[in-house]
Amino acid sequence: MGNEFMSIDWNSESEMKSEKLFERSKKVSPGGVHSPVRAFKSVGGTPVFFKKSEGAHLYSVEGTKYIDFCQAFGPMILGHRDPEVAEAVHRMIDQAWSLGACEPFSLELAEFLTSRVPAMEAVRFVSSGTEAVMSALRVARGVTGRKKVLKFDGCYHGHVDSMLVKAGSGLAGEVASDSAGVSDAQETLITGLDDDAGLEKVFAERGSEIAAIILEPMPANYGLLLQRKEFLEKIFVLAKKSGSLVIFDEVISGFRVHPKGMAGMLGLTPDLLTYGKVVGGGFPLGAFGGKKVYMDYVAPQGPVYQAGTLSANPVSVTAGITTLKKLERESIIEKIGQRTDVFVEKLKAGFKAVDFPYTVVNQGSVFWMHPLTEGNKTIRAFPQIPANHRTDYPGFFHAALKRGVYLAPSAFEVAFVSNAHTPEILADAADRLIDAARASMAQASG
Ligand SMILES: Cc1ncc(COP(=O)(O)O)c(C=O)c1O
Repeated sequence: MGNEFMSIDWNSESEMKSEKLFERSKKVSPGGVHSPVRAFKSVGGTPVFFKKSEGAHLYSVEGTKYIDFCQAFGPMILGHRDPEVAEAVHRMIDQAWSLGACEPFSLELAEFLTSRVPAMEAVRFVSSGTEAVMSALRVARGVTGRKKVLKFDGCYHGHVDSMLVKAGSGLAGEVASDSAGVSDAQETLITGLDDDAGLEKVFAERGSEIAAIILEPMPANYGLLLQRKEFLEKIFVLAKKSGSLVIFDEVISGFRVHPKGMAGMLGLTPDLLTYGKVVGGGFPLGAFGGKKVYMDYVAPQGPVYQAGTLSANPVSVTAGITTLKKLERESIIEKIGQRTDVFVEKLKAGFKAVDFPYTVVNQGSVFWMHPLTEGNKTIRAFPQIPANHRTDYPGFFHAALKRGVYLAPSAFEVAFVSNAHTPEILADAADRLIDAARASMAQASG
């Protein structure tokens, strides 16, 4: 199998080896990859090269089949290449690719979003989550005339310059950037998740300078750090008092944990929201939106410039709307959430039975495995993550890989269950992961 239009020799057993392909990739792309986590740097070893995906499975170039819990880092909520989405996309391929003009396809998706997500009164489509965040921040600055943005230590919002700032000690204040080449990190203020006093302090000291506070309402980029509702509510109270906008980054949680997003689920109304991943059904699409009074600042309606050649691409929009309609029609978000609850309970019991000192946390179909904490306390901020996770996860990851389970190649990435993960596949996966846990401990001690 392969693509006959490519010059790679798909039938050559000696060429179709992940190691060989990675060596070739390193010569032509930085680190051999097109996004850093794919390089396996934090788990070690050679990244697996995949040639095919289907449902809950990935197939490596060597022909090995894996149960996939990475799910392209979140978008594939229906599983890989869902037949209904595939058919709609094929039809759109025969109709229009890129128009750079007005069309009805994105209108349908825009009407779907604004009628389902209570806080989304108006929406603009872009091509990625990063672009959505970048644009939402610009709107907030345009609306308020302020420069500073407050973000949380341990939240990731894409590779927007001002969002690439160090995970600090939880004290409010300017920080250096995590990345070279970033010049405006000084406009970003940081405070800690689950830290009421820190939040109050930064608003008391800098509130009048803050254009927006941005957060993942379900932080899922430094493990899964579930927040107390009172903490989230406090954010709204403090932001309102100082005239700052609240931006919910729902790039992961949007159409993943609840049909109305975390905002709808919690009954909170952020001023602006960002969406990505699921909203494009596995194709490049992002969205930012929110209260109409603020979205009216966006060009050509208002003075905040924002544009994109491929924005609202018809193929991406088609994959998105087909995915979202299927999710709604078949109550898939709820169903896979319940299936994940069962799976997580089985994993927790299995880890305990083999004395693997890990537990599992989930919110709907998003789950994360982490070392047991003292007193089984919920981890709500990244400094609470036991230090051994970084060193113990790679052994577990590779033991799982050997047993045909593909997890995200980082201790701090969450895992995703899709509609294609049937109860049978999940039960099988749990057995494999429990066996991987047993084996990784035996290896560590032996
Ligand atoms: C919460 C959140 N915001 C923004 C982004 C950036 O999205 P993208 O990778 O599509 O640019 C991500 C990506 O993982 C994310 O998890």
